[in-house]
Amino acid sequence: MCPEEYVGYENLIRFIEDRALQHLDGDIIEIGAYMGGGTVKLAGFARKYNKKVFAIDTFDPGIDRTVGRGGVTAGEVYEAFLEGSSMFEVYEKATRGLDNIVTIRADSRQVSLPEAQRFFFGFVDGCHQKTYVESDFTLIWPLLVSRGAIGFHDYRFDDWPEVTLAVDKIVADHKEQIKEIVEIKGRGDVSTLLLVKR
Ligand SMILES: C[S@@+](CC[C@H](N)C(=O)[O-])C[C@H]1O[C@@H](n2cnc3c(N)ncnc32)[C@H](O)[C@@H]1O
Repeated sequence: MCPEEYVGYENLIRFIEDRALQHLDGDIIEIGAYMGGGTVKLAGFARKYNKKVFAIDTFDPGIDRTVGRGGVTAGEVYEAFLEGSSMFEVYEKATRGLDNIVTIRADSRQVSLPEAQRFFFGFVDGCHQKTYVESDFTLIWPLLVSRGAIGFHDYRFDDWPEVTLAVDKIVADHKEQIKEIVEIKGRGDVSTLLLVKR
């Protein structure tokens, strides 16, 4: 099975390069790696600068019970695209040979990272419920360096309005710490909102 990605990670990498974020301190963190298609792109980019990618996922497609349009859960969508394959096996195959990936197979709400770890870029595309988006932000933001950025996929996507609610609240609550806000279009009619830290 081909390691798909559903974001358009090239746009994220262009955003990083345009701001030369890769020259800042720290690594990349991705919450929601799925089949690893995006992780591979981030890691291929990061290795050129001796950076790592921390990839967090439960690799359990059924776990996200966020209900979208037509009553279908996110988990059911992930299962359908996997066509019976194991998510973790597809991910492992896709990422094989990239030794700068740190895979954390866990619920993002249960993850704690070393206090000294720093990131120049974080990407949130895990569980699409408000409390998860908030908790994923809380995991990354304190470890994000100044001028680094965090992106939220599905910021605008009719299926999962809780992402918009969560991100709008995060922006309102942290406006003093945010230097720049950029919305970029991804695949389909879905956007990613990026917050650059002051
Ligand atoms: C939309 S998919 C990610 C797609 C990926 N960014 C791409 O474009 O290929 C969301 C992923 O988040 C994972 N996920 C859902 N809830 C999670 C949680 N609580 N902790 C960690 N991962 C979670 C799912 O297993 C799924 O792989």
